[in-house]
Order: sequence, then C-alpha cells, then structure tokens
Amino acid sequence: MQIRWLEANEARFADYARLFPELGVNDPLPAPAEWLANMGPDLVFLELDGAVVGYGYAQALASSGYVRHVVIGPQARGKGLGRELMHELRRRLAARGCSSWQLNVKLDNVPAIALYRSLGMEPDFRTWVLRVPAPAGLPLPASPTLRCSEPPASSDATLEREFDVPSGLLARHRAKPATRLLLFERDGSPIALAPFDPHFPGCFPFRLRDPACSRAVLEQLLAFVPVDRAYLQLVLERDEPSARLLLSSGASLVFEIQHLQGPLHA
Ligand SMILES: CC(C)(COP(=O)(O)OP(=O)(O)OC[C@H]1O[C@@H](n2cnc3c(N)ncnc32)[C@H](O)[C@@H]1OP(=O)(O)O)[C@@H](O)C(=O)NCCC(=O)NCCS
Repeated sequence: MQIRWLEANEARFADYARLFPELGVNDPLPAPAEWLANMGPDLVFLELDGAVVGYGYAQALASSGYVRHVVIGPQARGKGLGRELMHELRRRLAARGCSSWQLNVKLDNVPAIALYRSLGMEPDFRTWVLRVPAPAGLPLPASPTLRCSEPPASSDATLEREFDVPSGLLARHRAKPATRLLLFERDGSPIALAPFDPHFPGCFPFRLRDPACSRAVLEQLLAFVPVDRAYLQLVLERDEPSARLLLSSGASLVFEIQHLQGPLHA
C-alpha cells in the first residue's frame, strides 16, 4: 500500500469532481479555474498505488486550521486512509503556524465523528444550514430599518471579535473576488454580518444578533442572489433562535451539523 500526497492542478479537477459529491452537501461545483485559484493551495490529494482515492481541504486561518472537506472514495474506506489524510492535514496546518483545528460534520456521520474524536477533537456547538427561497423570501414580521454597508478590510479584526468569527476567516472571504462582505447596523449597533458568496449562493457564516431584524437583512441579501438561482443558503452557527424562526417561516433545512474543535497536537 503506497501513499503519495499530490497538490492540486487543473488536471486534478476531475478527481475533485468525482469525490466531492461524497460529502453529500449538494453545493454546486465551481469552474475548474476558479476552483484552482480559490481552493488549490489548501487542497491535498491522496494517491494510493497510483490512483487518487481521496482528498482533504483545510484552510490555515490565523492560529486555527479550518478543515472544510475530508473525503475517501467508497471503495477505499475502512483501511486507515481517512486517518492518514487527517494526519497529513494536521502536518500541513502545523507547518503553517496553526495550534488548533476545527471542522463541521453532519450529526449522523458516525464514522467521521469517531475519527475526529479519536484525534482529540470535541463537539462545541451546533450549526443549521438553511435555504431561503429566492427571490420570494419568507413571510417574516416587519423589522426595523437597517443600514447595510461593505466595511473595509481594516475593520475585519474588530468584526471577527464582535461577531465571534474565527480570526482570519474574513480575509479568506475577501480573497475571493466575487464575495461581498455585508454589515447590517441599527442606530450604529452591529446587527448582522454576512459574507455573501454568489457561487453557493449564500453566506458562511451568517451572523444575526437580533432575529427581529431578519426580514430587513434577508430582503437586502436576496437582492444579491443571481437571477438563475432559486435560493439563498445561510449557515447559522450556534444560533438556534434565528434558525427556528427562519424554519418556522418556511426556510428549508439542508442539514444540521456539529462543530468540533481541538488542539492540533492532542
Ligand atoms: C469519514 C471518512 C473520511 C473515513 O475514512 P476511512 O478511510 O473509512 O476511515 P479509516 O479507515 O481511516 O478509519 C478511521 C476511523 O474512523 C472511524 N470509522 C471508520 N469507519 C467507521 C465505521 N464504519 N463506523 C464507525 N467508525 C468508523 C473509526 O474511528 C476509525 O478508526 P479505527 O479504525 O481505529 O477504529 C470516510 O468515511 C468518508 O470519506 N466518508 C464520506 C465523506 C465524509 O463524510 N467526510 C467527512 C465529512 S465531515
């Protein structure tokens, strides 16, 4: 059993396109050039005896590594390769200065949760991935008028503290040319933060401090959804009150996930 670690290049997009659906997240595939530019430096492919059987995608943020994808193809599972892949991601994140790592996993993904816990990760919060129909939106109660702006990069550290976003994540969003970072305020107080990526189209993470303001926020976000797309996807971390309000108003639940985190060298 000979393992080789391969970097991303345009020819490897076919492997990504074959393996990515194993995550079961139902997100659209990007165009190859966009994929390579946005994700390439954070991808690693696992080649076993000459065939690519898996890949990992992990972003080194300020001090924490955010593991975004971990995939071993169906035929190659159960042989220790998922664990090898996590060890490789750990090596790569440590080499880029991270001291902790984190990820999201579906609540019913028993193999993945067992793997991550065996590496020292622990559950910390729940996340809801929702879709709001576009352009119609949801029949939400009227909400106060908000000011929407696109704050400069110099305010990222303040916004990350204010909205409890992992340090360095907003810079990652800004590096994608099509992403817009939107801040919603009421009388000068921050109410919501939405890094909007038209590819999904949606916001990860979507922070809404006051569910009573959801209508005004969603109406403005829906205006950014491309006309050929039927939904706005929102990732609400920790925020059960907003998730419940949007679900009870007709948003659809894509899935509920568990966030796990731990020290890189457990
Ligand atoms: C999760 C995944 C990466 C595991 O890969 P794998 O190569 O099968 O895993 P390994 O053989 O290295 O096993 C590593 C550990 O995972 C856990 N595990 C693997 N298969 C399992 C199963 N069927 N049931 C329970 N635990 C299991 C065990 O803890 C195992 O450690 P052990 O063998 O020491 O008991 C793989 O199932 C996969 O790609 N699934 C589809 C995509 C996905 O869900 N990715 C995770 C997204 S968060």
